[in-house]
Amino acid sequence: MNGVSWPSDSELDRIKNMVAEMAGVHVDVVKVVASPYRICPLGAHIDHQGGIVSAMTVNKGIILGFVPSADSRVLLRSGQFSGEVCFRVDQIQLPNHTAKPNGKIEENHPSNTIEECKWGSYAKGALYALQRGGHHLKQGITGFICGTEGLDSSGLSSSAAVGIAYLLALETANNLTISPTENIEYDRLIENEYLGLKNGILDQSAILLSSYGCLTCMDCKTKKHKLIHPPKFEMEKNAESKFHYKILLAFSGLKQALTTNPGYNRRVTECREAAEILLRAAGKEVEPILSNVKQEEFEAHKSKLEPDLARRAEHYFSENTRVIKGLEAWRCGNLEEFGKLISASGLSSIQNYECGCEPLIQLYKILLKAPGVYGARFSGAGFRGCCMAFVNSDYADEAASFVKTQYFELQPDLASHLNQDTAVMICDSGDCARVI
Ligand code: GLA
Repeated sequence: MNGVSWPSDSELDRIKNMVAEMAGVHVDVVKVVASPYRICPLGAHIDHQGGIVSAMTVNKGIILGFVPSADSRVLLRSGQFSGEVCFRVDQIQLPNHTAKPNGKIEENHPSNTIEECKWGSYAKGALYALQRGGHHLKQGITGFICGTEGLDSSGLSSSAAVGIAYLLALETANNLTISPTENIEYDRLIENEYLGLKNGILDQSAILLSSYGCLTCMDCKTKKHKLIHPPKFEMEKNAESKFHYKILLAFSGLKQALTTNPGYNRRVTECREAAEILLRAAGKEVEPILSNVKQEEFEAHKSKLEPDLARRAEHYFSENTRVIKGLEAWRCGNLEEFGKLISASGLSSIQNYECGCEPLIQLYKILLKAPGVYGARFSGAGFRGCCMAFVNSDYADEAASFVKTQYFELQPDLASHLNQDTAVMICDSGDCARVI
């Protein structure tokens, strides 16, 4: 197992040849951005409240091959979607969506071509973010983007991976040196301002900061991060078996972009309402997010919350505690304890945050029964996509086929739409986004 197993040489060759043909250039001048998918073992749904989250990338993701174009024109094609996206980097981009109070996100200028509007908006959003940051780009790109087959809209943050891929390509073509911290903020602008999703900074932090084998810890309030290395166990006999895991991704067959589901923004609003009531009761005038409420203030005033708001706040405070314990378990190499915390986090998402849909809850329960699984939970927001689990490497194949069979029995329709080779994937930890 090694951190640079993705993208493979053949994936790189294929995309470089595509771009060389599109742009009429030699294959050697084509650059490729590799932008991995992320998982969040602990710290679900608390990033938008300034909580502490943990994350990792996996060795799969989005690749974007590109060359600078002759002028300011951007021309893009996609492996997943039809049509071409074409615009100029010297045209000013304005926010494309507005978040409504009921959680729905409406497009400001509905486009005639649905495909074009959907997948082109991330590239335009990247330009919007760079312009908001004061960069006046002159150089366009010709590019081809594709993701790992079947993994788009799966709760692995393909949207942030795509946004970051466009940011890195536009920055490279325009000779801009931008730090990961600045790109975290630019991706936030794409999602929060351009696309109207009120999400936090978990996804892009994971994608931009992760390092192979480490757990990335991000404090979403202070924006400080650290990498937690697992112990080395050099002195131990049988060292390998001590920290020997794989990441299982089990797909539900349900796909939907978060921007088209009002549920996500609704929960963010509920957390803010809970924070507002608790802060008022504590006599504090600060931004209404739950990280501004102390645990003891929550305990003292939680009776003032309606039951559903109390459950959202309960999730926030219990999840923060699980993250802190989980970082310690990872540092000590205690995968059993780490796994138990992940499963408890999954349960709190179902019972307190109330965001899981039936197929994902079924997958979660199946994973908990699978051989060798340390712990499992939904990946991402929980409205669609996949569940992830940490599993003992020796049992990974057995666990994968157990999950596939059991899920097929419960959800034959959804399961039959999945590609049987990739319905449950066995992955390793990955690295951060980079230009190759
Ligand atoms: C989505 C959002 C993130 C985060 C997760 C849930 O991936 O984009 O900001 O809230 O859901 O943890």
